[in-house]
Amino acid sequence: YRTIRVGLLGAGSVGSQVARLLLEHSEELAQRVGARIELVGIAVRDPSARREVDLPAELLTTDAEGLILGSDIVIELMGGIEPARTLVLKAIASGADVVTGNKALLAIHGPELFAAAEQVGAQLSYEAAVGGAIPIIRPLRESLAGDRINRILGIVNGTTNFILDRMDETGASLEDALATATELGYAEADPTADIGGYDAAQKAAILASLAFHTSVPVEAVHREGITGVSADQVESAKRAGFVVKLLAISERLVDDETGEEGVSARVYPALVPRSHPLAAVHGANNAVFVEAAAAGPLMFYGAGAGGVQTASAVLGDLVAIARRHVIGGPGTAESTHAELPVLDIGRITTRY
Ligand code: NDP
Ligand code: HSE
Repeated sequence: YRTIRVGLLGAGSVGSQVARLLLEHSEELAQRVGARIELVGIAVRDPSARREVDLPAELLTTDAEGLILGSDIVIELMGGIEPARTLVLKAIASGADVVTGNKALLAIHGPELFAAAEQVGAQLSYEAAVGGAIPIIRPLRESLAGDRINRILGIVNGTTNFILDRMDETGASLEDALATATELGYAEADPTADIGGYDAAQKAAILASLAFHTSVPVEAVHREGITGVSADQVESAKRAGFVVKLLAISERLVDDETGEEGVSARVYPALVPRSHPLAAVHGANNAVFVEAAAAGPLMFYGAGAGGVQTASAVLGDLVAIARRHVIGGPGTAESTHAELPVLDIGRITTRY
């Protein structure tokens, strides 16, 4: 096998799980990609900090720039705008492809980053930026690219869904539920991004840009968070047969008079009838409904936050990029099926 060098920026909730899975599954991934994926380093702020996942000390570094220069693919999981933006631009300029889960960065600086990547023919993949583990970016960008999407709506923030669910089910206060969500690794480094609706607005901007083939700036998304939602309101909504959910809704609108088309995107807490499928989205799960002209309604559901769940989406992007590095290797043809032996059906069928 040839070797593809991967530099990881960040070893927090998501980054540490990405590192663990890369190290534990290196053989399997090598077979699947047709190249060895070598984790060459992990940039962090404090290499001596205690981490939930034990990572090889020799991989930890504070020299993110040096790490980038020795990498074929850079995974950015530091979060925030700077130094993430500068480092991603440096990675692209150095000829590396980039995987990121940083929706704040993409929602604010996406056009600059995509232009930089396009200029040098680099890949910039971001499945983890919206919906955690849920595949939603690639379906919008590829599978539905020939259709006409009219509306995309749902629950796109795991932390606030977890909080509202706790408030609804146990009567917990917003503060207590947020503390638990933070402990579980769902919340952003600054959880105001979650409860203030900023994270959901960033995701709405990303989804709307993809769905409507335009550039929706995050400032254009109407945003209300859940900070004003009290335990009493959740309780009275419950008595009336509703559940409170933070919704993100983006739709194609046509001006009745001029016929002019535009996009409306908004995030706000709404009362959802208990019989609606969105009411059944519990914990940190997300659900996104896509209404497309030809395909009709589609629903994407699953873990919207969480370290290991989100690591799955990051690794999916990584494998897709790595396969492109291996022209003619497994995955560039239909040969990945050869990974597992085919069992005689008689050996696995239970007969009564
Ligand atoms: P964490 O805050 O848990 O981890 C951030 C990591 O980045 C830490 O290891 C930290 O180092 C490192 N880091 C931060 N700033 C610097 C810096 N200036 N130089 C070097 N290292 C730095 O974040 P998460 O893992 O939760 O999230 C990472 C990204 O993934 C974010 O963009 C987030 O929005 C996104 N995301 C998160 C999800 C989740 O469920 N948590 C789900 C989907 C996306 P140190 O450990 O030393 O402090
Ligand atoms: N803080 C984010 C959330 C992480 O709770 O949805 C996943 O993007």
